Amino acid sequence: MSALERLREVDAHHQLEAVLAIPDHLRDALWRVESARLAPGEARGTMVCAMGGSAIGGELAAAALGERCTLPLLTVRGYELPAWTTPEWLVVCCSYSGNTEETLACMEAAGALGARRIAATTGGQLADAARAADVPVIGLPATIPVPRAAVAYMFAVAAEAATLAGASRIHTEIDAAAAHLEGSREGLLERAEGIAAELEGTVPVIYGADLTAPVARRWKTQINENPKLPAFWAELPEADHNEIEGWEGSEREAFSALFIEDVDQHPRERRRIELTAEAVAGNAAGVVRVATEGETRTERLLWAVALGDLVSLFLAAQRGVDPTPIDAIESFKRRLGST
Ligand code: PA5
Repeated sequence: MSALERLREVDAHHQLEAVLAIPDHLRDALWRVESARLAPGEARGTMVCAMGGSAIGGELAAAALGERCTLPLLTVRGYELPAWTTPEWLVVCCSYSGNTEETLACMEAAGALGARRIAATTGGQLADAARAADVPVIGLPATIPVPRAAVAYMFAVAAEAATLAGASRIHTEIDAAAAHLEGSREGLLERAEGIAAELEGTVPVIYGADLTAPVARRWKTQINENPKLPAFWAELPEADHNEIEGWEGSEREAFSALFIEDVDQHPRERRRIELTAEAVAGNAAGVVRVATEGETRTERLLWAVALGDLVSLFLAAQRGVDPTPIDAIESFKRRLGST
């Protein structure tokens, strides 16, 4: 049986189809934001309040925008807005389920502050709170198997919302990235299968820099949630100031290092990736280097996100586990008395 057949066998809730549908999700997200008819307005910056699979969209959008983000685009993960938040900030509350308590708390805090708010959700308490306060809601489709598979929606919502607070609009770039992903489909599947084979049986440590830093984080969380495996991520150049030392004491077969490279990275970051890969090689089970593919920042970013998502699914197939159920997270939420 091929790796893809094994994946289809364990993937009872069709996450593979959801990853392959990212191009459709991107186009649909742009349409949904457009339909929300958000009025332009002055703001000091945009704050995306969200957790987990809904939060990463904010960081990915900031990375795709890069220097075109002329005002801050921050992602807030937690119960409170930063103490320095003023009513001039645009607060975008994103929760796929609409029931994440941290995001609901930020929604309420932003309301109490008098900040402009937008909600992006399929429903739940977030939609109820937004409607009660006349806050615009960008409605998301409830048909996606899990919140983390709605990453393209959260990315496009954050990128589009940021334009209300001064960022350049990248909707045509997002549209082109959708076409690029469609054209890359077979190559991505093949590459992902190969990378998953190289990572098998090890704990991956994923490194990114600049555009690929939030991508590294996304790979890590997808490897945690889909195959239910430990994984870690770090950012260069910072990791060269601490983490490389830790490799000295690692068991040779325990960890793999994976580096996500991009043409837009600072030349010194690119040099650091080369040297860091060499430095850890002697203590790693394997070293994998991935160079992003695509013309624009958005194309390359989303290509790398899709690749990581697919790698996580192939790792789930290797272990024979259905990638979708997240029993540990659900039972934790129940113990906490959360929804
Ligand atoms: O991937 C997941 O399912 C989680 O990381 C969720 O995204 C996280 O718990 C937040 O949930 P929601 O996106 O519904 O707010």
